[in-house]
Amino acid sequence: CGIVGVTGNDNAVSILLEGLEKLEYRGYDSAGIYVNDLKGKDYLIKRKGRISALEAAVGPEVHGSAGIGHTRWATHGVVSEANAHPQYSEDHRFYLVHNGVIENYKELKAKYLSNTTFESQTDTEVVVQLVDRFVQSEGLTTKQAFVKTLSLLEGSSYAFVLVDSTDPETLYVAKNKSPLLIGLGDGCNVVCSDAPAMLNVTHDFLVIRDGEVVTVKPHSVQIEDAEGNKVQRDSFHVDMDAQETDKGPYPYYMLKEIDEQPNVMRKLASLYTEESGKTNIDSNLINSLKQADRIYIVGAGTSYHAGLVGKKLFEKLAHVPTEVHIASEFAYENPLLSKKPFFIFLSQSGETADSREVLVNVNANDYESLTITNVENSTLFREATYTMLLHAGPEISVASTKAYTAQIAVEAILAKALGEAKEQVIAEEFDIRQQLGFVATGMQAIIDDKDEIEQLAKKYFVHANRAFYIGRGIDQTVSLEAALKLKEISYVQAEGFASGELKHGTIALIENGTPVIGIITQKRTANLTRSNLQETMSRGAATFTIVRKGLAQDDDTLIIPDVDELITPLLSVVPAQLIAYFTSLNKGLDVDRPRNLAKSVTVE
Ligand code: G6P
Repeated sequence: CGIVGVTGNDNAVSILLEGLEKLEYRGYDSAGIYVNDLKGKDYLIKRKGRISALEAAVGPEVHGSAGIGHTRWATHGVVSEANAHPQYSEDHRFYLVHNGVIENYKELKAKYLSNTTFESQTDTEVVVQLVDRFVQSEGLTTKQAFVKTLSLLEGSSYAFVLVDSTDPETLYVAKNKSPLLIGLGDGCNVVCSDAPAMLNVTHDFLVIRDGEVVTVKPHSVQIEDAEGNKVQRDSFHVDMDAQETDKGPYPYYMLKEIDEQPNVMRKLASLYTEESGKTNIDSNLINSLKQADRIYIVGAGTSYHAGLVGKKLFEKLAHVPTEVHIASEFAYENPLLSKKPFFIFLSQSGETADSREVLVNVNANDYESLTITNVENSTLFREATYTMLLHAGPEISVASTKAYTAQIAVEAILAKALGEAKEQVIAEEFDIRQQLGFVATGMQAIIDDKDEIEQLAKKYFVHANRAFYIGRGIDQTVSLEAALKLKEISYVQAEGFASGELKHGTIALIENGTPVIGIITQKRTANLTRSNLQETMSRGAATFTIVRKGLAQDDDTLIIPDVDELITPLLSVVPAQLIAYFTSLNKGLDVDRPRNLAKSVTVE
């Protein structure tokens, strides 16, 4: 979910709505705002669906100088206007927006609120009703009631902004696990889930730590720790134009972000390597990594897939055994660790709750860690021992593209640096700077051939119910990401498979015309994957190939340029991204905002 708040600005309504538009990628099943004009008029407007539906419902009479807003990704309670936020107390005095999950809301409701009338099925309403209850029946101030309520939310995740309509200029803010920032404006202050939402108001932000309570007024921000002590904190500056998050001439962010990949590769090469070809990476990080007897890569979704490629890179270039874990599994399975583990967190947003849960445990055990993320000052960025930025620019489309390739490029640079530090000949001979140059040119060539890929999408996927990507080794890891792209935005049930494994069961799903795409970039296994494709063809599959040039044969479908076999995912994934894009587009779907998903999932 996405949260915004503002106090001290007569344009509160447009600040909130523009902020919500920028946060829409965090969830878009319903949205709402509450605004107060400080002269006795207030407005609560909520709508099911996109921010545009909310905007259409906000009439010209709606105005105010303080307020809060929310765009929802449903957890508790179906998608409905009643369950949209802001939630409010029975007497309409308190209004609250919330991102997260209150684990013990049923117990709290039974214990304190048995006589209260509820209008929604949300866990959030319990919180706002509790604040009201403590104010009304225990005579607490709003802040005291807020603090008392927070103390009851055992193990929950939340980011809250609370407004008391009898003193609407003050916003009460707190967070635990879920992200939230305070933006410092000129005579006005704002609250937001992430900085791009408020760049039209300010570029200066304050981090809030878990357990702190923040009181935000037009001219002041007061932070207190869990014990009530005042906390001083410096702001940080976000050096990004509001326009960087615009679509420009593109119909969808996804296409823009696919197109940006060659530049991201060049940028990473110039930032993390020197002209001599040497890598340019924090030597403390390399020393820490050198001590490790095993690397544990943790991530979710596409970032997990980038981790699977990373395993090959760290094992081959640096000769360090590497495990890759799905964050939500690792957090609760406690896998056996080696004597000297080192953790690498991959996360585009730096906010994924599943990954953060693992990092909290890693820190509690004093293990060292590195976060590779696209978002400076994000939670995973702040809490890891070391950080490396992806420098990919804001990624807005829910389906991740440039973050995946940037993550792989950064892993390749890091693996080379570590391999060199360990005097591995293969790493010394691997010219990553030059290779990333080849990758950038290769990506551009694939992107320039979009029309051909659109034809393939129309021919093979637009009418398909299911599809398979297959490959071996590093190509198998790409097949997982290729299939994920297709299913998340075009709703074709797609699976990525180890090509040799398909025949051991799943081949039963192949019917006449089922698309099966072979990814073939590795010399050793090329012919094996070709045989596996033949097996599916004999059973009616409509097959085609994505093949590295050096291995191409006459009847291959899409030929991608040659690069070192270690980093072919950087190229082989691009046609798959475009196939997913054009399939979704030609099915008339919303490419950037697929159903049921959110870009940044800050609940476990
Ligand atoms: C969500 C997104 C995915 C993304 C995953 C991990 O589920 O829809 O596209 O890969 O989160 O996000 P992260 O920001 O940690 O990379």
